[in-house]
Amino acid sequence: MNILITGAGGQLGHDLVRVFSEQGLHRINAFTRQELDVTEEEAVFRTVAAVRPDVIVHAAAYTQVNLAETRMEEAYKVNSLGTRNVALAAVQTGAKLVYISTDYVFDGTKRTPYNEQDRTNPISIYGHSKLHGEKFVQLSCEKYFIVRTSWLYGRQGSNFVTKVLSWAEQKNELTMVSDQYGSPTYTYDLAQFIGRLIETNRYGIYHAANRGGCSRLEFAQEILRLGGKSEVKLLPVSSEQFPAPARRPEYSIFDDMAIRASGLKPLPYWREALQTFLFEDWPGKQDKEENGNGQN
Ligand SMILES: NC(=O)c1ccc[n+]([C@@H]2O[C@H](COP(=O)([O-])OP(=O)(O)OC[C@H]3O[C@@H](n4cnc5c(N)ncnc54)[C@H](OP(=O)(O)O)[C@@H]3O)[C@@H](O)[C@H]2O)c1
Repeated sequence: MNILITGAGGQLGHDLVRVFSEQGLHRINAFTRQELDVTEEEAVFRTVAAVRPDVIVHAAAYTQVNLAETRMEEAYKVNSLGTRNVALAAVQTGAKLVYISTDYVFDGTKRTPYNEQDRTNPISIYGHSKLHGEKFVQLSCEKYFIVRTSWLYGRQGSNFVTKVLSWAEQKNELTMVSDQYGSPTYTYDLAQFIGRLIETNRYGIYHAANRGGCSRLEFAQEILRLGGKSEVKLLPVSSEQFPAPARRPEYSIFDDMAIRASGLKPLPYWREALQTFLFEDWPGKQDKEENGNGQN
């Protein structure tokens, strides 16, 4: 297949390229923000028309959840209008579209895993802007997959796993939020799932995260245990004691009902995925664990 990837410089974009290259079956056209800015309508149309992809995986997004609260216009421009541009270009060329969305479209008030039928109700600008992106996709395209995912980590960029390991190098005690629950997800597993999904015509919304779920505190505990840093003490705090500019859903563990119903292979359980990520080796890994490679 001829595949176009937006946001190829990001965590997921990086692993999409890795998975599609490993498969050796596809022509990959991967664009970083510098190569294709999704807010530039003309550039999006021109590029998509030139590539004529069978599938577009739209992984580009404004992902700075806290900053989005004060940079609302930028978040909507990228996540909502940028997605509209990509969706319309997909329609024009007949490409299937995979739009990556988020657990932050939910308010987190439920106490059982969220499935695809649950009512969305975002509580942050980021969540709103991503949900608008979903609406544009649904209004414009017929051949779409909306893939909601959560708590991503991978080899590229900064994320919770690399940050916890880096903090553990510097401190004996870490303060960790204990009342936020979600499904940590390794971008490689997500990219593999997307690889399986695009082979089908089972369009619609999917909750695609590593299976099961945990609190931020439990996630950190497991990172430290597997990372050989169990001696670092974790101090549980509530979200109220640890205020952030953007509200996060208290609970957003996923139920992968649509994956099961479609007969697709689910993602591995989150502990197994974390173990794979922490025990595999790649160039630059050690440097990242020591420095957190942190932007956020
Ligand atoms: N990270 C998570 O925990 C999480 C959770 C749920 C859902 N998601 C969704 O999953 C997808 C992938 O996330 P990720 O973690 O891979 O994010 P990421 O590492 O921040 O990657 C996003 C990429 O999009 C690029 N980008 C930003 N604005 C752009 C624009 N106007 N045009 C083109 N590219 C642009 C960014 O480039 P710059 O770095 O140069 O800005 C970055 O390379 C996103 O749709 C995100 O909303 C993420």
